[in-house]
Amino acid sequence: MCGIFGIVTNQNISVGKIALDGIKRLEYRGYDSCGIVSQHKGKLYIKKDSGKIDDIHKKMKLDDLPGKLALAHTRWATHGAPTKINSHPQIDCSGKIAIIHNGIIENFIELKEHLISNGHDFKSETDTEVIPHLIEDAMKEGLSLRSAIFNALKKCKGAYGVAICHADHPDEIFVVRKESPLVVGIEEGKTTYCASDIPAFLPYTQKCYILDDDEIAILRPGEVEFLELNSEKKVKKNAIHVDWSIDAAEKGGYEHFMLKEIYEQPEALKRTLAIPQASIEIFADMLLSAKNVYITAAGTSYHASLAGKFIISKFLGKYIQEMECSEFQTQLKDCLEQDSLIIALSQSGETVDTIEAVRWAKENANVKILTITNVVGSSLTRYSDHVIVTQAGPEIGVAATKTYTTQVLTLALVGITIARKRNVIPASEIECYHEALKNTPEIVKNFLANNIHLIRNIVKNLEKSLNFFFLSRGISIATAKEGGLKMKEIACRFIEGYSAAHAKHGPISLVRKGFPIIFIAPPDETYQRLIGNVAEFKARGGKIISLVIQSDKIIADMSNITIPIPQPGDKYHNLISPITFIPALQLLAYYAALEQGLDPDKPQNLAKTVTVH
Ligand code: F6R
Repeated sequence: MCGIFGIVTNQNISVGKIALDGIKRLEYRGYDSCGIVSQHKGKLYIKKDSGKIDDIHKKMKLDDLPGKLALAHTRWATHGAPTKINSHPQIDCSGKIAIIHNGIIENFIELKEHLISNGHDFKSETDTEVIPHLIEDAMKEGLSLRSAIFNALKKCKGAYGVAICHADHPDEIFVVRKESPLVVGIEEGKTTYCASDIPAFLPYTQKCYILDDDEIAILRPGEVEFLELNSEKKVKKNAIHVDWSIDAAEKGGYEHFMLKEIYEQPEALKRTLAIPQASIEIFADMLLSAKNVYITAAGTSYHASLAGKFIISKFLGKYIQEMECSEFQTQLKDCLEQDSLIIALSQSGETVDTIEAVRWAKENANVKILTITNVVGSSLTRYSDHVIVTQAGPEIGVAATKTYTTQVLTLALVGITIARKRNVIPASEIECYHEALKNTPEIVKNFLANNIHLIRNIVKNLEKSLNFFFLSRGISIATAKEGGLKMKEIACRFIEGYSAAHAKHGPISLVRKGFPIIFIAPPDETYQRLIGNVAEFKARGGKIISLVIQSDKIIADMSNITIPIPQPGDKYHNLISPITFIPALQLLAYYAALEQGLDPDKPQNLAKTVTVH
């Protein structure tokens, strides 16, 4: 949570402006306060406050800072309310050491007590503030800045990514990573950047290094040195070249990142279809040879896992046990079997509960980890035996959209590969499933091109109903749940995504005349029974909105409003309906948020990457 950005240069450029732009690109990681520090002629210049970056910038001109080195931070509060004093950078007593931090220092209370007893004066309630004081303490004892940083950070327990600068060190930024993402970007000989995420410096360079846990990077203008935190030895690292376009990290003419990313889905799906088959085969082979298979994730990725599990188990001939990552260890601690295989899904690859689940499993049993993520080199990939990177491109909107559809598509590609390897269906059918997968970009594109008006009208129609249901059966329960989650997080409405069959066991008692129920109804094997469920809700006065294929007659006729998805009604396309039906619900949430004056890119209390338990 929180976004970190740093720049050190020998060029004549405004570090304040670049740092400000950098944290604006990271705002999805947290946006309750922000701050910038620059170094110039032996002094630190700090501007910070609580609130959104744009508002603070209007008040304080955040980009107007002298010098050739700056650090900037956008915060998602953990320890200490989102106030000016708690915003970063945090400094030591002398005002010479400044630090920005993402993560949590778990032992900060004992460190703080010790530092206070040594005469340090704390200004904030943050855990972060212990770090500059620890460095100051070590420097007072005669250590150099570099040694003091090693000394201080070895005392800190927890997960963190930090960037540190000193008033008397005009051309050095120290960056440390322990389980919180940090990347370094470099323009050789000129400028070096650090950030929590690559898009923050993408307009300036595509050459970057990914820090590993327990590593320190020392950034100087146009160069960087890596060291191990514990041994203090040098580390040799290879740079990677990211081929994301700069455009991908900007809004590109759309009002919000969320809308842009919904519209990017056809392209993202096309790129995902081009994932090398060899990589899919490895994934499939590992699944085939595993004794037990689990699939784990959080939030939207968890919903992708529900859809993916359905598709893969259809062909695998083994049950796949899904498990929310935060429950993984608690529920399996006495029964995780040897030779299990765990599929871990995470768009960021940094969700702490997902990482902890796989790390715990690896430490406690002979298991293999298959990861699907959107971020090359993310933390989760380190614990993985095989990784597939979904080709969604950077996703900035807090609500996951294109990463969801590409995750489901990736799992579907694995499922079809397994079907071929196991010979469970004729080759002609495999071909039909492949065709259906290949059609997903076009189906989504056609839907998005023709239905905005309809979706906006539905939003207006629903305006008075704060609560309603998304109901379905079978594989589409994943779609109902994901649609419900989008509505909750973006439009702040309590929408329950639920099984249509199960809804009779309680939730149906909420239905009154005009109560909206959205049915997700591809014509699959659950369709006949879903007709019955629609009838039950209609009979109680419910207003039926249905998501159906274009040629649907029965449920369409029973509905007050239908949202037509332009796809054929065969079983091959039904199986990929979690991909083709969800854009309608993403748009519904997006426009419902706008209707209520909410910013879809900044849902309240949320951060895109959840790096705390
Ligand atoms: C919802 C959303 C979250 C994430 C969840 C897991 O729109 O984005 O629910 O899906 O925090 O994140 P990843 O996939 O990065 O592990």
